[in-house]
Amino acid sequence: MRHGSESYFVVGEGLLTESADGREATVAVAATAAAAPPFRFSRMGPRGSGRQLGDSNRKRIAGAMAVGGGGASQIPAGFTYLGQFVDHDLTFDKTSVMLGQNVTPAQMLQARSPSLDLDSLYGAGPQDPESAKFYESDGLHLKMGKTVAAEGIAAKNGFDLPRGAGSSAKAKRKAIIPDPRNDENLAVAQTHLAMIRFHNRVVDTLPASVPPSQRFDKARELVTKHYQWMLRTDYLPRVCAAGVVNNVFNQGRKAFEVGVAPTDVPTMPIEFSVAAFRLGHSMIRREYNWNKIFDDGFGTLDLLFTFSSTSGDLGQEMRLPSTWIADFRRLYDFKEANKPNLAVPAAKFNRARRIDTRLADPLKNLRAASFGGPRAPENDPRRNLAFRNLTRAKMVRLATGQQMATFLKSKGVNLTKLTKAQIRDGNNGADLDRLTLAQRAALLKDTPLWFYVLREAELGGGKLRGVGARIVAETFHRAMEGSQNSIVRDTAWRPTFGPNTTTFRMVDLLLFAFEGKKSLLAPLG
Ligand code: HEM
Repeated sequence: MRHGSESYFVVGEGLLTESADGREATVAVAATAAAAPPFRFSRMGPRGSGRQLGDSNRKRIAGAMAVGGGGASQIPAGFTYLGQFVDHDLTFDKTSVMLGQNVTPAQMLQARSPSLDLDSLYGAGPQDPESAKFYESDGLHLKMGKTVAAEGIAAKNGFDLPRGAGSSAKAKRKAIIPDPRNDENLAVAQTHLAMIRFHNRVVDTLPASVPPSQRFDKARELVTKHYQWMLRTDYLPRVCAAGVVNNVFNQGRKAFEVGVAPTDVPTMPIEFSVAAFRLGHSMIRREYNWNKIFDDGFGTLDLLFTFSSTSGDLGQEMRLPSTWIADFRRLYDFKEANKPNLAVPAAKFNRARRIDTRLADPLKNLRAASFGGPRAPENDPRRNLAFRNLTRAKMVRLATGQQMATFLKSKGVNLTKLTKAQIRDGNNGADLDRLTLAQRAALLKDTPLWFYVLREAELGGGKLRGVGARIVAETFHRAMEGSQNSIVRDTAWRPTFGPNTTTFRMVDLLLFAFEGKKSLLAPLG
């Protein structure tokens, strides 16, 4: 299972894939909805034909990006992996867990569409024969797993993802969740587990008046709407300029799927998937103060890969060792929710890296398992996440930053284009000195969208703004609007699990999920 898509079915264009020599993007099939297309992408802006940078230029740029450094941010580090969880929710192709028969073409289409409906958590629901394995026998609760005792810390129920199916060691380690990408590293895995707990708590607190036949659907609706509220009011304004987020959610979209019927099946703009929302790659740290045991930077990114089943082997155990259970107090700031008793000393707290044009250096040499192989030697550009992102954009002929700025302005979006000097100099981001003069000139003229939105953020206090913020906010808005449960369509809905009727943040979600208990949020103390 790959983290991202290898080929893109773009509505109206067909399937865009890389040819064998890695240079040409070809239209392979003009599939129609009736032919059950794969996950449906779309193009928000113009094509970037004739504006793609050459191979050696992309290698140099990627080399300048994945060197570590860059800025620090105030964003608690948990939000990095919440973002990764959201990415997987948005780009999840539910047909991979649905039984082919008994599925109508309309359901099939919906299943291959982006929406913020937590299908990466629920699969196709407890009644679907292929998804039943994610649920307890009551058909209501999601399964959780048990850690394995380590270094004198007992095995603990409910602190690992469920595992243990199959007979080979590899199969046994594999998480029993709809989307194995959520076990790509330990931080996203523990985020998925927190969402499982959230759902289970909501089930447990449903009023007795809800009849058995409606209990699952009611719980899912409450969970999904709270999740969307949290994303709109807490996650989005941390990574995107708040003014843009408010403008999109209050005034509506200007550029993406404008005027469509709200319940029409949404698509996923490649400008979001291939560029703007890859913002999270810049937030990743090379090391974390993970918990009491793997403290002081000993929770390295590399170990977070090892203690997962998609990129690693759980340290050769069959389940997560108890020593690796997350300390959520180090990833989210519970002082925001007035819980100083759940705060750790500042030196123990983890903050994300600033959103800018630099990436933590381990991302220069991804493990083959993290991107779906093939194995490649140290410093091979295919292992460099920045090179992969830039190359993916070339593959789909993605619009450049300048093209998107012009396009968005033509739609009435108020933004200021970056100047060549801003793109060249940035603000303590990637240093372009090692590009040749010709390479630099090409980059400043036709800036790859991902690089452009990261430069915008770096020049603007570490949040997406301008082009980047608009693409992200509009895509989230549409993905909530088109979700079966939707706070965009149900405008009267208000959260009930937070401190008041307008507040529901990630810390509130965790407090609810973990019953406000330190023994659950940080069981190692
Ligand atoms: C340690 C953490 C992460 C790793 C190792 C990782 C790795 C990857 C890889 C290998 C790809 C595919 C690259 C390609 O096109 O070949 C990818 C795609 C992507 N990543 Fe990440 N990523 C991480 C975290 C994140 C975060 C935090 C976000 C957002 C907040 C994010 C957003 C995306 C998006 C939007 C895609 C494209 C998805 C698609 O096309 O289906 N990633 N990532």
